[in-house]
Amino acid sequence: MSGRYFVTTPIYYVNDAPHLGHAYTTVTADALARWHRLVGDEVRFLTGTDEHGLKIQRSADEAGITPIEQADWASARFREAWEQLDVAPDDFIRTTEDRHRASVQAFMQRIHDNGHIYAATYEGWYCVACEAYYDPDDLVPDDDDPAGPGRCPIHLRPVEFLSEENWFFRLSAFAETIERWLLADPSPVRPEGKRNEALGLVRGGLQDISISRRSVTWGVPVTWDPSQVFYVWFDALINYATAVGYGVDPERFDDWWPHVHHVIGKDIIRFHCVYWPAMLAAAGEALPQQVDVHGFLLVGGAKMSKTAANKIPPIELIEGAPDKGYPALGVDGMRHHFLRQRFGPDGDLSVETMVGRYNSDLANGLGNLLARVTTVVGKKCGGVGPAPRPDSPLAAVAAEAVADTVAAWEAVAPSEALDATWRLVGETNALLEDTEPWKADPGPEVDGVLGDALEALRIVAILAGPALTRSPAEIWRRIGLDGDPAAARVPDDVAWGGYPGGRPVEKGAPLFPRLSVDG
Ligand code: MSP
Repeated sequence: MSGRYFVTTPIYYVNDAPHLGHAYTTVTADALARWHRLVGDEVRFLTGTDEHGLKIQRSADEAGITPIEQADWASARFREAWEQLDVAPDDFIRTTEDRHRASVQAFMQRIHDNGHIYAATYEGWYCVACEAYYDPDDLVPDDDDPAGPGRCPIHLRPVEFLSEENWFFRLSAFAETIERWLLADPSPVRPEGKRNEALGLVRGGLQDISISRRSVTWGVPVTWDPSQVFYVWFDALINYATAVGYGVDPERFDDWWPHVHHVIGKDIIRFHCVYWPAMLAAAGEALPQQVDVHGFLLVGGAKMSKTAANKIPPIELIEGAPDKGYPALGVDGMRHHFLRQRFGPDGDLSVETMVGRYNSDLANGLGNLLARVTTVVGKKCGGVGPAPRPDSPLAAVAAEAVADTVAAWEAVAPSEALDATWRLVGETNALLEDTEPWKADPGPEVDGVLGDALEALRIVAILAGPALTRSPAEIWRRIGLDGDPAAARVPDDVAWGGYPGGRPVEKGAPLFPRLSVDG
């Protein structure tokens, strides 16, 4: 299997530092990129920061700095957080870069030239936190101002009335195109419930939308009317095209577009499953291949965001923060936790569940398996790893784990993929418990079981690589293998029987020391 795989995250607003919600999306996209490299695809992984708009202008004003100072500071925090989580994008885009300004102007000029933009007056209720206008029907009641318009349904903050002479995009003309795209088989939007949500937005009727702001100065000037800047969402969405050379390198753009897989949270479905495909259609480009939508990580039932004020910086869970009761999960523990989260639905984030999952999957599961095998090989095989048995009872278990892991990553179901991989860990631990090689005399029987277990560890070290970026290389080394499990290829290198035997096996310190809830 090999092809081109272009995976993106939303680009994050620079009004604040990264929190676990951003980290969740980004680690998922990073794991998908790593998986696709394992299966031999040519991969591009893009993330970045969304730096224009009223929200950034205002938060810079509040902090008494310029918008670019604000953006430089926050963008650097995002890069730093991704390094701390071993997130390795091929490109980190900032919307204040020249390459992006040029691409936005070329893209929007194309839509204009194609006759899909006109001037009109806009009046409506605007949420600055969302950077979006709201239909009065979509606002939620405001207890502090029952006679007022209501509040933003996402941020629960008061909306503002804006009235401007703007440029408008003829979104209404694209309803049929978007509906046809949404109804394609296989669906371009997953999971199914989210496709239905997008269909509902289209079938509910699409209004033309204002794409410029006269009152905002922090943005990309409208090419044909420099007194205005492009509305920040139109600017931001185009980042996906900028990054593969839109407008400057048509060949590169054609190589990567539309093999794009957008990973987004459920809060931005309207923008990615309605506006963005319509913009692409209006510019004469192909619509995205895939949009994968995940739910929110909730803390005590509330979404994490600056507004909700219960955000957690990722580093506090990687390194631990004893004063707050956070244990040190390490990079692998943190990534594993995110990816064991079911992708579609919302999930509650608590220290108890994080520690529970770490202990059961990593400390008692994989870590214990490695410790047992390396210890017994030391005691019963003179520290030299035996080869696996071709007719091992684990061979079929491994084949099934591989097939299920492959299918689940393909379906963007990381939690099911890890479940499948961990079934091999569980069955191998069970085989050891049944046969108790630590009690038996050295000989072919013990060699066979331990060879099988070493082979299972080799396979797991490859399959777990998209989630765990550190421990697989250490497992590889301790079981005496050369090279790097991340350089392996699935499925060829995970076929049963690859562990050569005759290699020195080393027992080291526990890979995943058990954690307790109080850190
Ligand atoms: N700048 C826009 C996106 C533009 S994309 C062209 C934006 N930025 S954001 O900083 O608010 O990030 C939104 C994304 O962060 C969500 O879509 C989601 O992927 C992620 N998350 C933010 N909070 C989250 C949770 N509490 N849980 C899971 N993911 C969350 O919107």
